[in-house]
Amino acid sequence: MDLIERILRTTTQPDFGPERVRDVVAAVLADPTDWLDPRHQHRGGEDWMMHSLYRAASLSVLAVVFGPGIVCPAHDHGSWAVVGVYRGRERETRYRRANPPRGLVVDRVLVSPRGTTVVVPSGTIHTVEALDGHDAVSIHVYGTDIVTQHRHEYDPATGAAKIFAPDIHGDA
Ligand SMILES: [Fe+2]
Repeated sequence: MDLIERILRTTTQPDFGPERVRDVVAAVLADPTDWLDPRHQHRGGEDWMMHSLYRAASLSVLAVVFGPGIVCPAHDHGSWAVVGVYRGRERETRYRRANPPRGLVVDRVLVSPRGTTVVVPSGTIHTVEALDGHDAVSIHVYGTDIVTQHRHEYDPATGAAKIFAPDIHGDA
């Protein structure tokens, strides 16, 4: 599957942006075969694992594996993102800051089966988890190099932010 090539092709188009990337990822995920390299579909015994598939200064692509029963920390991206579910089913919970700022309030919850592809607007704070007792694998595209991007995780109770720098595996 030429996932990266197809995403890169959109970057040269005048209307390039997360909506175009979403369209490409959705089209790629419409292929029902198991085309993603198995090395990018495991979590090595960890709760969750991020595999780098492509990195440039203003675009990066990850395959992310979430184990069942695990909720990743509430975090931001410092960029727009596009998330498409490759395997399993994911629940994404988006938050907003309470006003006056005193913690996070659930803004919306999206449940996404395989093939669902959504735009996560810049500034979004969210958590993601796998449903149904199985691993979930998803393709994540960012309008930045997410490996070096300055971003945050949040304490939902207080809204306190600290640096979020998860391990990201792979040489890409
Ligand atoms: Fe995220």
